Amino acid sequence: MNFILLGPPGAGKGTQGQALASRYGIPKISTGDILRESVALKTPLGLKAKSFMDRGALVPDEVVIGLVRERLKQPDCQKGFILDGFPRTIPQAESLDQTIADAGKSIDAVINFDLAEAEIVRRLSGRRSCPNCKAVFHITLNPPRQSGICDQCQNGLVQREDDKEDTVRNRYKEYLEKTSPLLQYYENSGLLHSLAGNGTIALVSKEIERILSV
Ligand code: AP5
Ligand code: MG
Ligand code: ZN
Repeated sequence: MNFILLGPPGAGKGTQGQALASRYGIPKISTGDILRESVALKTPLGLKAKSFMDRGALVPDEVVIGLVRERLKQPDCQKGFILDGFPRTIPQAESLDQTIADAGKSIDAVINFDLAEAEIVRRLSGRRSCPNCKAVFHITLNPPRQSGICDQCQNGLVQREDDKEDTVRNRYKEYLEKTSPLLQYYENSGLLHSLAGNGTIALVSKEIERILSV
């Protein structure tokens, strides 16, 4: 099973992707996680990406395209993969189509999460993330068992640099401008399944299960 999680910031891609990865035993590939890791390690990729991420702008296509192309060659993607936050522009989607076709594979589904801007801001202001295993929590909507500590690996949780309200609003603007055209792109290829991202985590998860079982 190869699928894509699409949607605005804070819509639940990481939360659902994490659950799906363990359910299907396939990797969740989050370009945001890979870029944040590179920023933390101050690699050349990280140094290039940081200024874009800090202001809530998309990192240039050529940077992320190369990164995903390499990641999809890894052996753990043979059984399938979940793309979280990629593609995010039409050129990224076109390049992915090419990469997938070259590998003799196909995309099975694109799951799109709809969520209004006010709810996005509310969710991201309370999000806490695990820099170690990438698990995601929310101080009230999805709290960890012990405040500030990851349920899965006991690492300390952190607040993402780009979750400040102004930056979140910029990220949402970037989404509307550059990513939302992908809805039509995947509608045209018959792969798009949209769901209401404002249900509970359990409800959204059930809806995804329904979509993938058809
Ligand atoms: P990225 O890390 O991908 O961020 P994003 O797309 O903005 O999405 P988020 O991770 O903020 O949200 P999410 O949908 O994963 O929601 P989550 O599950 O955490 O990208 C960051 C940056 O990297 C970009 O701005 C860009 O600079 C760069 N980048 C990355 N990919 C790129 C690309 N392809 N091209 C160019 N640049 C790229 O949930 C959010 C919160 O809500 C959590 O607290 C969670 O607990 C809670 N929650 C989740 N679901 C529910 C629910 N159903 N009900 C209640 N609460 C919920
Ligand atoms: Mg995420
Ligand atoms: Zn963790």
